[in-house]
Amino acid sequence: MSRLLYALVLMAAVASAGTSRSQTATPPNASAPPATAGTDATPPIFRGIGRAATAREIAGWDIDVRPDGQGLPSGKGSVKEGEAVFLQRCAGCHGEFGEGTGRWPVLAAGTGTLIGDRPVKTIGSYWPYASTLFDYVTRAQPFGDAQSMSSDERYAVVAYLLFLNDIINDTFVLSRETLPTIKMPNQGGFHDDDRETVERALWNPHPCMRDCKAEVKIIDRARALDVTPAGRSAQPRAE
Ligand code: HEC
Repeated sequence: MSRLLYALVLMAAVASAGTSRSQTATPPNASAPPATAGTDATPPIFRGIGRAATAREIAGWDIDVRPDGQGLPSGKGSVKEGEAVFLQRCAGCHGEFGEGTGRWPVLAAGTGTLIGDRPVKTIGSYWPYASTLFDYVTRAQPFGDAQSMSSDERYAVVAYLLFLNDIINDTFVLSRETLPTIKMPNQGGFHDDDRETVERALWNPHPCMRDCKAEVKIIDRARALDVTPAGRSAQPRAE
């Protein structure tokens, strides 16, 4: 079976698992043998393909956190604890205060720069929800060693990042209860994509789909513009 199909089967299984989410590392029935695919609940196009995902596999994928706090694990972490985690596991790349070392990403400052020529998109200047940050750190950081932190460590380090961005004060303790109460500075800067209604009048209902230009004139070559590799193969050009 192709990887794509397998991913689709897995996603279908996650979707049908509904609200029964588990945040524990080992779900209770993780050792149950996987069911075979092809039950009545299986959509016709998937029948006979693959097998049902195990609870453990689903738990591995089902880690998203939403703005209302849905999906947050139990546990908690303070700004102070987060500082220790950050210095140990993050500062090497992101700098002690989130200023970024070398060309690693900046995680703080940038307030008010979004409308300028050189916007600095950070947690404080850009990110819409604290849950986005928790979700992202959970799934992707520390870079190269993702998903290696306990939930207490994640709460703590996210609290420290919010503190560095002047969003919470240094006594704040982040948890499933307190995280959804945080309002991020740029939350109002995000809008639903309403082009389909707002710009509909501007759309051409009969766009030209063939022979749209009477005569096509070639005015330059990509190679002359120096964007095409010299050789015929896909090998990178030797400098
Ligand atoms: C080895 C260097 C490295 C370490 C260590 C590291 N990061 Fe990162 N971090 C990165 C890189 C690279 C990116 C950009 C990744 C990308 O865009 O796919 C990033 C992106 C981020 C972002 C998103 C920045 C943005 O606004 O787009 C956050 C938040 C973050 N890291 C937090 C952390 C935390 C918290 C830790 C410690 C637990 C950590 N990082 C450790 C390299 C690192």
